[in-house]
Amino acid sequence: MQLDDLYRRVIMDHYKNPRNQGKFDAEAVTVDLNNPTCGDRISLQLQVEDGIVKAAKFTGEGCSISMSSASMMTDAVKGKTLEEAMDLAARFSSLMKGEAAEFEEYEDIEALAGVNKFPARIKCATLAWNALRKGIEQEQHKH
Ligand code: FES
Repeated sequence: MQLDDLYRRVIMDHYKNPRNQGKFDAEAVTVDLNNPTCGDRISLQLQVEDGIVKAAKFTGEGCSISMSSASMMTDAVKGKTLEEAMDLAARFSSLMKGEAAEFEEYEDIEALAGVNKFPARIKCATLAWNALRKGIEQEQHKH
């Protein structure tokens, strides 16, 4: 099996069976963002306690790249401090620039590495991560 096939499978699995979809009943940091180039959107919620992202959920509409990226991000960010979550987002930016970046804690993310060859899709892949950054900033400004 080609690596590309494996990556495509990982992406399609997250797209078809998105992790962490929905909304919290309890209060949560909420960020609504859209991708201006296509209008696709995401609503991200983070449950933060004592500086740690306890859980994340999302709803939205978008292509397989944007939705699979959101699924992976909401899983990967669980249990991280706000600083670690920012670091994760920074590593994802590096990946989108074609730079080497590792995600030992959540290797599925590396399946999106190939997106950097398609500039139009980078906005799809980064939508959820931009929402994550905004959410972290909102939380940090509260304190
Ligand atoms: Fe809209 Fe990918 S085409 S987010």
